[in-house]
Amino acid sequence: MTKLNIIYASEMGTAMALAEDVEVTAKNKGIDTELSEMDDVSLESLQDMERVMVVISSTGDGDVPMMGEEFWTAIEKADIDLSKMNYSVCALGNKMYFNFCGAGKKIDKRFSELGATCVVNRHECDDGIDGWDVWAEEVISALGY
Ligand SMILES: Cc1cc2nc3c(=O)[nH]c(=O)nc-3n(C[C@H](O)[C@H](O)[C@H](O)COP(=O)(O)O)c2cc1C
Repeated sequence: MTKLNIIYASEMGTAMALAEDVEVTAKNKGIDTELSEMDDVSLESLQDMERVMVVISSTGDGDVPMMGEEFWTAIEKADIDLSKMNYSVCALGNKMYFNFCGAGKKIDKRFSELGATCVVNRHECDDGIDGWDVWAEEVISALGY
């Protein structure tokens, strides 16, 4: 069975804990998973990923959290082919900020520009993680598990 890659970037831990919950949800369905901090993912390995769930919060002014900064700097300029990839993004943020869920929006847009297929529209959480479980179920099913 094709592996599910769960990639996260978190500043204060919420998105990281949520990514772990997503992994438990998938494992309970017998899915083979790999959970990775965003900066630990090389662009080379990203090109080989077929099924990806991204969980990412925003910091600064719609910025990617520090543990994903290097990844973002690299992928922003990279000319790579993500056409093998099916993915969806769960973006954490807070509507008090002007650039709501800015980091999740940036990653989603860039993956799509590089040829990846978004299987479920981005889920945006306002000040918490509401709705993540419905999103996770929908994505796991849309990814063909
Ligand atoms: C310094 C700071 C800057 C933030 N900037 C944004 C932002 O630009 N856009 C947004 O939607 N949320 C912003 N947030 C809200 C966080 O993304 C939100 O609280 C999220 O749930 C935190 O997840 P984390 O614990 O994984 O970092 C910011 C929070 C902090 C503390």
